[in-house]
Amino acid sequence: MKYNMVDLVGQYKKIKPEVDEAILKIMDDASFIGGPSVKSFQKNLEEYLGVKHVIPCANGTDALQVALMALGLEPGDEVITTSFTFIATAEVIALLKLTPVLVDVDPDTFNIDPKAVEKAITSKTKAIIPVHLFGQCVDMYALKQIAKEHNLFIVEDTAQAISAKYICPENGEKKMAGAIGDIGCTSFFPSKNLGAFGDGGAIFTNDDELAEKMRVVVNHGMTVRYYHDYVGVNSRLDSMQAAVLDIKLRHLDEYSDARLKAANYYNNAFANNPMIQTPVTADFTTHVFHQYTLVLNDVDREGLMKHLADKGIASAVYYPVPLHMQKAYLDPRYKEGDFPVTENLSKSVISLPIHTELTEEIQKVITDAFLEYVNK
Ligand SMILES: Cc1ncc(COP(=O)(O)O)c(C=O)c1O
Repeated sequence: MKYNMVDLVGQYKKIKPEVDEAILKIMDDASFIGGPSVKSFQKNLEEYLGVKHVIPCANGTDALQVALMALGLEPGDEVITTSFTFIATAEVIALLKLTPVLVDVDPDTFNIDPKAVEKAITSKTKAIIPVHLFGQCVDMYALKQIAKEHNLFIVEDTAQAISAKYICPENGEKKMAGAIGDIGCTSFFPSKNLGAFGDGGAIFTNDDELAEKMRVVVNHGMTVRYYHDYVGVNSRLDSMQAAVLDIKLRHLDEYSDARLKAANYYNNAFANNPMIQTPVTADFTTHVFHQYTLVLNDVDREGLMKHLADKGIASAVYYPVPLHMQKAYLDPRYKEGDFPVTENLSKSVISLPIHTELTEEIQKVITDAFLEYVNK
């Protein structure tokens, strides 16, 4: 028996008739690009997130790039982001010749620390990219106060947290991750909480002007056919992906509940073990567990991963190398030791299988094997 990080086949089987019919219809109509499924998904996602505008695009990396392109930033402008994230967040900053400014994270939530953000602000800072890592929201209230005071844009990277809710500490109002800052960006990579059958992404905003500009930028900067007012990109969500996503969107809350239930099972199994720090959910957010990530204390991580693998159980390390230690991003501004929380997490985190198809029987196999090694 194999216990993978995700079970996309199991999830597909439950919605197969609907999905197959929708895909076959697109093939019959040959409406591969910009067909009605794209518009339908866009509208349904706008409603789900409570935002005025959703701009579908080709992937989450493009979503971030297009968001930054729309803000009219100049080369050399600084964009603050977390040192503990997937590379795409910093990649787009660098690609646009903006300057990524990295800051450390909170040791409990692994999310960007607003106090560290404030300290990193200079006269060149123009934007902040908080990443709602592993499925829970960043402390957006604190971040929005800082952004307001310093006149900065906030572009949320919610590739891992679609459907997570942020609870405003001031008035208890709930907002969807990605619908809090100026622009939200997400990914529909197949293993994401809302995953397509290929690549996909979307950008969200309540700002009419930014929405208009981003709609043009994703389409070669074209305002009227063959008239290009901006330098743009070609970034489309194709009709088949939109059709799949539209169907899965109807199940997204159920998917999030299943992930939370699985996370709770793990939390109970690993509770009160001094060798294991279970995930901490901040009180201003729900958690949709894109990843279930533990911090190991004095456990040989490689040995543990091998022990699990020998029993057919997958595990993964997100992320083994902090951004400032990545070869392509080495920079004289940063050195080893600058981001101690991130550096410690890179050495001590481990993620276990989490998905919508986990059963208690499977989780028992995983937790028994895990504890057998940790408690030996
Ligand atoms: C935090 C984060 N940002 C951005 C991306 C990029 O998304 P995509 O792979 O769709 O380009 C990912 C995807 O893994 C991600 O996890």
